[in-house]
Amino acid sequence: SENGRDDAKRRAGESAAELIEDGMVIGLGTGSTAAHAIQAIGRAVSEGMDVYGIPTSFQSRALAREVGIPLVTLDDALPDIAIDGADQVADGALVKGGGGAHAREKVVDAHAARFICVVDETKLADVLNHPIPLEVLPSAVSAVEDSLRERGGEPTLRAAERKDGPVITDNGNPVLDCDFGTIEDPDVLAASLSVIPGIVEHGIFAAMADEIHAGFSDRVDIRSV
Ligand code: A5P
Repeated sequence: SENGRDDAKRRAGESAAELIEDGMVIGLGTGSTAAHAIQAIGRAVSEGMDVYGIPTSFQSRALAREVGIPLVTLDDALPDIAIDGADQVADGALVKGGGGAHAREKVVDAHAARFICVVDETKLADVLNHPIPLEVLPSAVSAVEDSLRERGGEPTLRAAERKDGPVITDNGNPVLDCDFGTIEDPDVLAASLSVIPGIVEHGIFAAMADEIHAGFSDRVDIRSV
């Protein structure tokens, strides 16, 4: 059920938040699972813990402000730890960007001394097969779509739900979701996407997470990667 799934997300988020120590700078991920971690960090702050957050999106910034986490930017400090969700996890490689926040997430998560990925069990897979979110410069959409088809992908422009036209990210760009079927080697695909001009950032986070905290109905599995 949705409630059971949210409980599993909360378990994962709170498990990651237990790693927070006084004085840390924390990368604050985006999405419903990371939100549980942000809420737990907010409770720790209200109990006197002294930490700073670096948000990865409009959403995580707003939630962090609501729960009282003081915020800084990457100009001020690099994160000691980042806690962020994912859309799919296989063998330690992640697909992110279901909420269109992967570009800023990747910058913050990559610069964190430790990156903890928080998911519920439905995100765990043997091999990645989730469509890859791609943030793209508006003027480059058609050209990027051609490049993706040449590489065997099937791109779809992500449509907004309550606006006519495409989803526009916090950075002002549209998003393509590109289906590559089963992704045997995420490193190779990530490298091939990184060199397509016009792609601001792709949602493959390979070899970035240090730990996966996976929430189940009755427990959290913690795996070092
Ligand atoms: C945001 O763009 C994504 O990278 C999220 O981190 C991802 O979609 C996970 O979100 P949920 O925890 O809500 O599934």
